[in-house]
Amino acid sequence: MASFKKEFKSAEDEKNTKNASENADGAVSPVSPEKDEAGDFDNPVRPLSFDEYIGQTKLKENLLIFINASKKRASNLGHHDLDHLLFFGPPGLGKTTLAGIIAKELGVNIKITSGPSIEKAGDIAALLSAVSNGDIIFIDEIHRLPKPAAEMLYPAMEDFKLDIIIGEGATAKSIRISLPRFTLVGATTRAGLIPSPLRDRFGFTARLEYYDEDELAAIVARSAKLYGIGIENAAAVEIARRSRGTPRIANRLLRRLRDYMAHLKKDRITLEVAKFGIESLGIDKLGLDANDILFLKTVIEKFGGGPVGIETIAQAMNDEKDTLEDVVEPYLVACGFIQRSKKGRVATELAYKHFGLIKEDSL
Ligand SMILES: Nc1ncnc2c1ncn2[C@@H]1O[C@H](COP(=O)(O)OP(=O)(O)OP(=O)(O)O)[C@@H](O)[C@H]1O
Ligand SMILES: [Mg+2]
Repeated sequence: MASFKKEFKSAEDEKNTKNASENADGAVSPVSPEKDEAGDFDNPVRPLSFDEYIGQTKLKENLLIFINASKKRASNLGHHDLDHLLFFGPPGLGKTTLAGIIAKELGVNIKITSGPSIEKAGDIAALLSAVSNGDIIFIDEIHRLPKPAAEMLYPAMEDFKLDIIIGEGATAKSIRISLPRFTLVGATTRAGLIPSPLRDRFGFTARLEYYDEDELAAIVARSAKLYGIGIENAAAVEIARRSRGTPRIANRLLRRLRDYMAHLKKDRITLEVAKFGIESLGIDKLGLDANDILFLKTVIEKFGGGPVGIETIAQAMNDEKDTLEDVVEPYLVACGFIQRSKKGRVATELAYKHFGLIKEDSL
């Protein structure tokens, strides 16, 4: 047991060294919600059951009801009949994790793919013809499925049939083959970009919410235990406050603070270690990252607080409109810093206050 733990730790340390150098180069910000755990299904802190999955309480309750009911029906049908599910919300909130937990609860296999890695309708046909009864198919970034591939999914999701065209030109004919029962779990950061025929074929759609401080502190405490890192309660709360409501960021910040703990020659992450590390990493008091701050400053300084269109902001920031809408803006809206109006984005009084400024029209 002890030797196993040691092995596990050193593999993790290796990963962290890599991340630390990335940070030093400025490539991956410690507070960016982007993935750094490659593939990250073997990530040791990823929850494997609903009990381990902290927060998103209402969603978990609903999912458990659906799963248990479909498991009950399985005794008559011979297989579960869980409807297709669509999860949406900003990166790092636990969509992929949920898909894995659902498969585990149902006792079935999960096949994982993503919208951008599917190039043509044939890729969908290949994916579906390899499913076994009851399997979960997880398609990440499902809004990026090419149109012909999405269209191939429609009859498959609805009737568990695949329409395949054989031959070419005048001799071409379409044949329909039956598929085993499968459950499609789609994940997206942009529900609005999913064509409505695809969206309509999901039996349940859920939005994942940013986590509150208590939930994130519990996630940090749990991860610390799994990584074998000692941490003070107050330090876990401090990490929770600076993690942009996002478990992926909280876990990453925890791993960075482990490095500061070693640097400060402490045997656990104390509040002092946490404050030192957070200060050194230049993390804002609300966990805002450089992009968040640039977004707010652009609206305030260049456009007088708005209203200003998202395209204009993207141009001024020299950034992608999509990234701003998927990753940056949702958190600023959740914090009450940005309001969306018909005329564009407006920086609120709270946003001005965050920078020690006063909004003129509030005087
Ligand atoms: N509810 C939770 N409880 C504990 N840890 C969580 C929870 N949700 C997510 N995590 C942790 O955060 C990490 C990121 O979660 P996950 O990969 O599921 O996010 P995602 O929503 O799929 O992100 P993306 O949109 O970038 O694919 C996981 O590896 C896991 O360790
Ligand atoms: Mg994911």
